[in-house]
Amino acid sequence: MKKHFIILSVAVALTFSSCGNNAGGDKSIAQKVDSLMSLMTLQEKIGQLNQRDFGWGAEDVPELIRQGGVGSLLNCAPERVNEVQRIAVEESRLGIPLLIARDVVHGYKTIFPIPLAQACSWDTSVVKAGAQVAAAEAAVSGIKYTFAPMIDVTHEPRWGRIAESLGEDALLTSRLGVAMVQGFQGDDMADADRVAACAKHFAAYGLVESGRDYNSVFVSEERLRDWVLPPFKAVADAGVATFMAGFNELNGVPVSGSKFLLRDVLRGEWNYPGMVISDYFSIDQLWVQGYSDSKAQAAADGINAGVDMDMMGGGYYAYLDSLVAAGEVSEAVIDEACRRVLTLKYQLRLFDNPYTDMSGRDTVLYNPAHLQMAREAAAKSVVLVKNVDKTLPIKPDVRKIAVIGPMADAAYDQMGTWCFDAEKEHSVTPLAALREEYGDKIIYAPGTKYSRDNSKEGFAKAVAAARQSDIVLLFLGEEAILSGEAKCRADISLPGAQTALLEAVEATGKPVVTIVMSGRPNTLPVELSKSDAMLIAMHGGTMAGPAIADILSARTVPQGKLPVTFPSMVGQVPIYYNDYRTGRPADYRPTMIDEIPLEAKQTSMGFCTYWLDAGISPLLPFGYGLSYATFEYSDPVLSSDTLTMDGQITVTCDIKNTGDYDGTEIVQLYTRDHFGSLVRPVKELKDFQLVDIKAGEDTTVTFTISPDMLEFCNADMRMVAEPGDFTVWVAPNSAVGAGKGFYLGE
Ligand code: BGC
Repeated sequence: MKKHFIILSVAVALTFSSCGNNAGGDKSIAQKVDSLMSLMTLQEKIGQLNQRDFGWGAEDVPELIRQGGVGSLLNCAPERVNEVQRIAVEESRLGIPLLIARDVVHGYKTIFPIPLAQACSWDTSVVKAGAQVAAAEAAVSGIKYTFAPMIDVTHEPRWGRIAESLGEDALLTSRLGVAMVQGFQGDDMADADRVAACAKHFAAYGLVESGRDYNSVFVSEERLRDWVLPPFKAVADAGVATFMAGFNELNGVPVSGSKFLLRDVLRGEWNYPGMVISDYFSIDQLWVQGYSDSKAQAAADGINAGVDMDMMGGGYYAYLDSLVAAGEVSEAVIDEACRRVLTLKYQLRLFDNPYTDMSGRDTVLYNPAHLQMAREAAAKSVVLVKNVDKTLPIKPDVRKIAVIGPMADAAYDQMGTWCFDAEKEHSVTPLAALREEYGDKIIYAPGTKYSRDNSKEGFAKAVAAARQSDIVLLFLGEEAILSGEAKCRADISLPGAQTALLEAVEATGKPVVTIVMSGRPNTLPVELSKSDAMLIAMHGGTMAGPAIADILSARTVPQGKLPVTFPSMVGQVPIYYNDYRTGRPADYRPTMIDEIPLEAKQTSMGFCTYWLDAGISPLLPFGYGLSYATFEYSDPVLSSDTLTMDGQITVTCDIKNTGDYDGTEIVQLYTRDHFGSLVRPVKELKDFQLVDIKAGEDTTVTFTISPDMLEFCNADMRMVAEPGDFTVWVAPNSAVGAGKGFYLGE
């Protein structure tokens, strides 16, 4: 990278942060760490940097713990947590407790919607509640450290891990990421119902080329700083306990060996005091990637870059002592890393309470209050994207309802990716919830057995069910295994015979409501045009069924909005709302492929940025979502048309609920910077508010704009707000709205 290195090989000064970090100003932790470290051998310090998986290949682990050779375990079964902890505390020389870790991403037993679905709520309280429930259920099971939130901004629906992300926008990801950290860590992450969180994957993993997992990333430093780093900075400021370095390389350097990211940015610029962990084998992989020329060199490169703990690779434990002896790694670097690990253990009060009291576990797991919170979260995460002629909600006098589709009763798949601990028997499916609600009005005919099923054997029964009904509820989507880590797709349409099933059902002429339960944005042009109403529900977790029933019946009025652009064809990808301005904008309707006359002349159609076959617009834009309520926006009004560098202006907008339902509208503030020293995006989200408006009433929404909100990274790598003309929109999504101009003055 072009940036200079600042090697911080001296012990870090602990700076203290806010969220759940009980070290706040507590000098005694630093003193305790110092006095413990004064007793430790080099090998014991290195042992603290070693994280092992206790799920497989772990026969040597108990003895290694006894020797002080393990600092942390991931994937330890609850029944064994106290046993291994006892070995660490009672049988190792210094009695240092273990840090027990696991991926508890969107729930432990009670599963909340996948993070991308939670992001559809744009609601920090939803996300916070999800993390809080996950923390409580995990902590009572012996877990004190989770690898979440995943805050990789991504433009890639092909990438399976988009399911774990919070979407394509840095501001939305920042707000929701901070809420997740607060939910996991609470005011004090040492509390019995909280866990330490981990911001991952630092950095730029979400931009893997062609959406293929583990692939390379090429992004300029300016865009890295505008798109990717802000959520990480936000959670660092909010006190997230740890960071995880990712698998990908960034502009040629693997991020797990990136001094630029870990030393210069994270420690140098942000002064981040917490522990950095590698990803699974990502230190070892520095060698596989051909960056380090041996496994020992990989260990040296990882620790010298600033990765404190080695997840699973074993390279630190195997090589660091000889690397110190050879002068390849300084002991001060090991001390620095060990100090961070021990500090975290003191912050979690593991030395005082190494054991987990699991006596109340049964009342915590799947607690009814948790299930209720999961249901509310799942309902707020549903996005209504089409509703012609008020097809929804279902009319109270409905006679028969056809429930069709492979996702209608997919108890396992509705939980989505990263569910290691939940049992499908606890999932309530849409079919179960709808039967509960509508009894024998429901006619169920799945049509196909699972999402990839290509058989049309079940079509006849599905069509017959549709014919007998007043309305069809068609549950389509993807099985859980089609998204998540290493689950990328080059074709992101609905798999199997699902589109054909929709066409067969639609041919009956009955109103069709399509509910899409997937782990990614799919290409759905046919599905959208042939449905009368459509809900994007994604994988909604344990309570997806009741939540969808709440929406269908209008017990809950839909309010979600898309946190990511839905392409109409995969060839449009990457497509995102805040792309950069071109010199040839599509500001007229371009000629589409079937409209081109034979032997048309080269210049006859004009020249603008678009695809002959896919136009310029996505299927559904970022920020889009409807409600049973309807909202009308007035033109925005500015308090002044000039903003000074030390000032603020306000923008107000009247929003009227012209519908029959009370509703919540997610009101979005966008700006465009018209001229910059670097080309600026078409639009950028700057703020949003969730506003409750009763039917027939209106409200005035006020946003404040200050120059810091208009900053971007310039060619000198400085965050600057440059004087000049701007437009501001207060809008229901990123594709519409009346703009108002203002000038940012010196
Ligand atoms: C993933 C991480 C995860 C880790 C531990 C890796 O494969 O990339 O996100 O936290 O495994 O399970």
